[in-house]
Amino acid sequence: MSIVVLISGRGSNLQAILDADLPVTAVISNVAGAGGLELAARRGIPTRVVKHGDFQTREAYEEVLAAEIDRFAPKLLAHAGFMRIVTAGYVARYAGRMLNIHPSLLPSFTGLRTHERALAAGAKLHGCTVHFVTPELDAGPIVIQAAVPVLANDSVETLSKRVLRQEHIVYPRAIRWFLEGKLVIDNGRVSVKGNDAQYLFDDKS
Ligand code: GRF
Repeated sequence: MSIVVLISGRGSNLQAILDADLPVTAVISNVAGAGGLELAARRGIPTRVVKHGDFQTREAYEEVLAAEIDRFAPKLLAHAGFMRIVTAGYVARYAGRMLNIHPSLLPSFTGLRTHERALAAGAKLHGCTVHFVTPELDAGPIVIQAAVPVLANDSVETLSKRVLRQEHIVYPRAIRWFLEGKLVIDNGRVSVKGNDAQYLFDDKS
């Protein structure tokens, strides 16, 4: 039972996963000096850096990345702020055992700058989604979502903070469900054995 976590930055979702005592056996970053590497190292978890810039093609990069991942024989691959678009070949290799967290209520606002775009659209609810990774960007089967209100005086900063608090709740929860073998994907739709609620709504913060 092991998880490899892929990151690119500060690693607050990684921190939440570690705080939930989930069995992380390695943390891999595509960015040298990413904050999450330090978090992992402090806990004695092996870290690796595979810089995408060192490779000519996505495929060449992913070959080396996958070799590093496979060294740890993970049951689950968790993308946690891993800011790389991956190829269909990579997705196929880890199909059904790769999760991602995205800072919007998918299918709204796939891609980048989600908080800015939700504010610009005048959305009244925003949030985050944990989903299985499929070849189409931010479009895989949804495991759990958390919604927060968008307040009249919100900035990107205040809104992203409110969403991030929920990310730190739902990602560890989704990972635990996966490791416990509770997630069932049927026709692109995910259910949880035991019928645990697959949504959260926080209107108090
Ligand atoms: C999070 O908002 C995550 O949803 C997005 O990138 C951010 C990563 O933050 N994909 P952190 O590195 O986990 O703090």
